[in-house]
Amino acid sequence: MGGGACGTSSRRGGVALARALFFALSLEGLRSKPVLRPGCGWRITVSLARETTMPPALLALIDRWIKRAALPDAGAIAAVAHLIPAVVVTGGSDGIGLEIAREFAKLGRAVFLVARDEARLAAAQAYLDGAGSGVVSAVSLDITSADAPSLLDGKLAEHGYYLDVLVNSAGLGLSGPFDTHSEAEIAQLLALNIGALTRLTRHVLPGMRARARGGILNIASLGGTIPGPFQAAYYASKAYVCSLTEALAAELPGSGVRICVVAPGPVETRFHARMNAEDALYRHLLPALSPQRTARAAVFHYLLGRRVVVPGLLPKAAAVCIAILPHFITVPVVAVLLRPRQSSKLSLHKN
Ligand SMILES: NC(=O)c1ccc[n+]([C@@H]2O[C@H](COP(=O)([O-])OP(=O)(O)OC[C@H]3O[C@@H](n4cnc5c(N)ncnc54)[C@H](OP(=O)(O)O)[C@@H]3O)[C@@H](O)[C@H]2O)c1
Repeated sequence: MGGGACGTSSRRGGVALARALFFALSLEGLRSKPVLRPGCGWRITVSLARETTMPPALLALIDRWIKRAALPDAGAIAAVAHLIPAVVVTGGSDGIGLEIAREFAKLGRAVFLVARDEARLAAAQAYLDGAGSGVVSAVSLDITSADAPSLLDGKLAEHGYYLDVLVNSAGLGLSGPFDTHSEAEIAQLLALNIGALTRLTRHVLPGMRARARGGILNIASLGGTIPGPFQAAYYASKAYVCSLTEALAAELPGSGVRICVVAPGPVETRFHARMNAEDALYRHLLPALSPQRTARAAVFHYLLGRRVVVPGLLPKAAAVCIAILPHFITVPVVAVLLRPRQSSKLSLHKN
């Protein structure tokens, strides 16, 4: 009996230790600073106070665990032996994608940026040059085009790379009542946020499995965990990304392939202005994380082998509330936060 009690208490101790370790790994240093942005009023931006690093021994241990049931194909490995493994970042010219590229470059990885605007890509490359020991290359490509996966393969081979890690960060939002968006706008959102991400993922996964290495880092949104009135199509598209990634993660344990979905709350990038959401209440009420901090959390937890990452303490708390509270309470709150103030004035006029 004494042995049983001792076993129970040591098990409890083990669980407590595991919880403490998990909590410590989930914590990132915080520093809040109010910033004034033209036309937006004061806003709190939260950025990282310290670097998030991982000891190489821990990384090697995690790698061994991730490969525990892997059966690498020697032919597949030989086929890319003359090429450099690259981290390909869609949406790598701006915002979160650019900072994720920077994190990988700092780790000495070769980074390949993908976006459409050539001038912004060149600026991104200049920004990343010297960020780390990794080489940075870029290609201008619309990833919604049907031949994007094969064009990407060709461009990578031209540079002497093969795709080892895919970061699906390119995405766009739509703000306002759903029926005010044109069919073309909705189709474009679905083609980028769902279509391109799915096609690229399907295209690269067999090679990763065969080589028993690499991985996929999908950038979804906290919005993917709840319906989002006034950003309905965007939130629904991110729900797809969360669901797809978690499902694939359950298909891949032990295969050597990492797959992770990041669900950030608001992040201080041009994303909100691009969809004309700057006047919505959430932009004034909710603190926005810096893209640097979001990227650090994303890459750190991806390397740890986590499946779902919510960067920042407030978004983590929001994720818990969303998980436990019923939609009839949370969805109307989200509606108030996302409603564009201009369109509410318009509808008041109409009434
Ligand atoms: N910012 C936030 O508050 C926030 C919060 C949660 C989740 N997210 C998600 O995080 C991801 C990144 O957001 P962000 O804030 O970094 O956005 P962002 O600053 O607007 O950057 C979007 C990037 O995607 C690229 N892109 C857009 N359409 C493309 C296409 N058809 N083909 C290739 N590249 C394309 C853009 O470059 P070009 O226009 O030159 O192609 C740009 O590099 C998105 O998936 C977004 O939904 C953002």
